[in-house]
Amino acid sequence: MTKPSLLVLPGDGIGPEIMAETRKIIDWLAANRGLEFDIYEDVIGGAAYDRYGTPCDDRTMAKAQEVDAVLLGAVGGPRYDGLDFSLKPERGLLRLRKEMDLYANLRPAQCFDALKDFSSLKPELIGGLDIMIVRELTSGIYFGEPRGISGEGDDRVGINTQRYTTAEVRRVARSAFELARRRGNRVCSVEKANVMESGILWREEVQHIHDTEYPDVELSHMYADNCAMQLVRTPKQFDVILTDNLFGDLLSDCAAMLTGSLGMLPSASLGAPMDNGRPKAMYEPVHGSAPDIAGQGKANPIACILSFAMALRYSFDEGDAADLLEAAVESVLAKGVRTGDLLQSDGQSPVSTAEMGDAIVAALAAS
Ligand code: IPM
Ligand code: MG
Repeated sequence: MTKPSLLVLPGDGIGPEIMAETRKIIDWLAANRGLEFDIYEDVIGGAAYDRYGTPCDDRTMAKAQEVDAVLLGAVGGPRYDGLDFSLKPERGLLRLRKEMDLYANLRPAQCFDALKDFSSLKPELIGGLDIMIVRELTSGIYFGEPRGISGEGDDRVGINTQRYTTAEVRRVARSAFELARRRGNRVCSVEKANVMESGILWREEVQHIHDTEYPDVELSHMYADNCAMQLVRTPKQFDVILTDNLFGDLLSDCAAMLTGSLGMLPSASLGAPMDNGRPKAMYEPVHGSAPDIAGQGKANPIACILSFAMALRYSFDEGDAADLLEAAVESVLAKGVRTGDLLQSDGQSPVSTAEMGDAIVAALAAS
């Protein structure tokens, strides 16, 4: 039997550090659980610009299309601020998402018990929190045409277009309803139908898919500004939140921070099934490249490690291994092991990125 394949793209900033810790987990599972992967590694984002002169080389793109899953660290950094827009690190990530057609971005915001006092919200508001944000990832204002800056001097115009088709809304709605059935069976669809035609279309199409295909799932609709407010007021009211590319970007950062740190949140970006039945897939932390702490061993590798757990679950049918890994993370946190982002007072001393990785491996070995 051929081994499943994985393309690892550490990227920029803290990307290489957190990926190194994730590789320890991958190696441990290979050595101890017989879970072996064919692993390819390449550069993306600013690192790809440095090596290939483009934020996502064609060869990298071709490999991403061929493997069973892509695991990405983070992209971006101030070093690349002066580059032409088309060469910026983020364009590399957006090219992967678009060309792999990864339309459903799953961003789970779960509060680990050990961290519930660490949230900026009261512990009773977030204890046991378990939200799944399903963000449309390949369309909307991120990719809509026309776009650009025209004019000169004091008369310039910047344009982006929010655009959704029926098919684009329907397919991501199905992803959300399918997920809801395996969770709390509730979907809250979020847009701004009060001011945007694309929001009206979104609402109507989501309702249509619900009525014709998923009438058993409870569906509600909410305006995006209200959703932001509700997320910090009573976050546990939500099960699955379904929303577009831009609102999903904003609301997922907000939901992530409810759980204490952006350094904890994984994501899965899924597309249509490939010939082998697995969905096209990329897994990456929700956080960015954190250039301010890059290379110092301060970064929290948990979001990247939990992204690999999502790969085990959604790409490789290894739900048991994913459970094991998530339990290992939970037990390490319960022991009080903390990277700097998870510390409140100056009294405690943080562990390094590598020490956190080692602690999770040790917890796996002890389980
Ligand atoms: C995210 C990030 C990206 C986005 C950036 C890095 C392009 O913020 O994945 O949430 O805006 O989608
Ligand atoms: Mg974002």
